[in-house]
Amino acid sequence: MSALVWRPGGPQCAIRPPRPSGAQSARERSGEDAPARAAAFGALLRRAGGAPYETGTTAVRNLAIVGATGAVGREFCALLRARRFPVQALRLLASERSAGQTIEGLHGPAVVERLTPEAFNAVDLAFFSAGAAVAREFAPLAVRAGAVVIDNSSAFRMDDEVPLVVPEVNPDAARRHRGLLANPNCSTILLAIVLWPLHGLGRVRRVVVCTYQAASGAGARALAELESQTREVLAGRPPRPEVFPVPCAFNVFSHNTPIGDDGLNLEERKLILETRKIFGDESIQVVPTCMRVPVMRAHTEALAVEFVRPVDAEQARAALSAAPGVRVVDDPAHNRFPTPLEATGCDEVLVGRIRQDASIPDRRGLQLICSGDQLRKGAALNAIQIAELLEGV
Ligand SMILES: NC(=O)c1ccc[n+]([C@@H]2O[C@H](COP(=O)([O-])OP(=O)(O)OC[C@H]3O[C@@H](n4cnc5c(N)ncnc54)[C@H](OP(=O)(O)O)[C@@H]3O)[C@@H](O)[C@H]2O)c1
Repeated sequence: MSALVWRPGGPQCAIRPPRPSGAQSARERSGEDAPARAAAFGALLRRAGGAPYETGTTAVRNLAIVGATGAVGREFCALLRARRFPVQALRLLASERSAGQTIEGLHGPAVVERLTPEAFNAVDLAFFSAGAAVAREFAPLAVRAGAVVIDNSSAFRMDDEVPLVVPEVNPDAARRHRGLLANPNCSTILLAIVLWPLHGLGRVRRVVVCTYQAASGAGARALAELESQTREVLAGRPPRPEVFPVPCAFNVFSHNTPIGDDGLNLEERKLILETRKIFGDESIQVVPTCMRVPVMRAHTEALAVEFVRPVDAEQARAALSAAPGVRVVDDPAHNRFPTPLEATGCDEVLVGRIRQDASIPDRRGLQLICSGDQLRKGAALNAIQIAELLEGV
């Protein structure tokens, strides 16, 4: 059976020997070794993600997807299918609302089962995408039953015992897991992928980031709401918000998560805290403003980055072009830059409008934008890549 299997009380799951315990080295924290590590991991990703697995791959596992009927859950099924992820048996789990429904599984239509504490018997690997409350209740049960869990919710992301992983940035963190790993927030993943190669060039001191987030980032019902509201408005009828607090069709509004005493909404706080944890650098200042826009799928972010050391726009373009998980789309002559439409369905995060920020002296400032499919790299793909990292396939 798979080398991924983790047993409670047993050794930590690791294909390669785990690194000595302790935090990242000063060199890692400064980001100076980012290009070399990114290049090494790029080779792994190209092999794992660039081409489908070869038939007959031996690393076969019993898999479960919790939240299989949701926006992320369906993306898991589509990606596992497309990548021919080696699976022996797949359990599609959701609430009793959808139990018995048929959805597209790995090999055609498959029946959804109700999530119960017993659902993880003989499961090796469980992808969770059913929100924080479900994760808090069921992820520990799955781990206790012997599964490795990769959770998409915010439930465990800031837990010191739980690695928060973007494989292109901090793959080593994954190898220190104790059965449970967390996928970062979707906006954080896009930011981290783009910022990491730049951190290696000039060490990021501060980044001001404005997000333009798609409706599907709030789930399948939110996506349906944008579709139906768009039709209603075009038909001359008033839109009726149900998922979002205000109409989302033909509108732009502040992110729909609760706002704390510090004035930050939850999404903004995630960007700050998760970026620091992934980079292993508590000194990075992240200054976010998160917005929703009437886009079906793929988030866009505008970044203004301040560095400790000078970074030329050309240097940044070259580093981003060489970085795994990134595609530079930067054609000022034709005004062609990343868009959510172009990013939809892509594995890479698109980056462009790379330019010097003249308001910061000594070439220590850059501005750029990026677009990335938040259901894919911002959720399901990143989680699958974490699993691939553990397996070393
Ligand atoms: N959407 C994104 O772009 C995105 C990106 C990154 C992370 N995430 C995170 O991923 C998770 C899922 O998001 P989503 O957008 O896929 O949401 P979604 O479309 O609303 O889907 C939620 C899924 O969870 C299931 N579920 C809800 N309550 C449940 C319960 N009590 N027991 C079992 N299953 C339950 C639902 O099943 P039913 O069909 O039975 O209701 C559905 O399959 C969330 O934690 C979200 O924050 C989402």
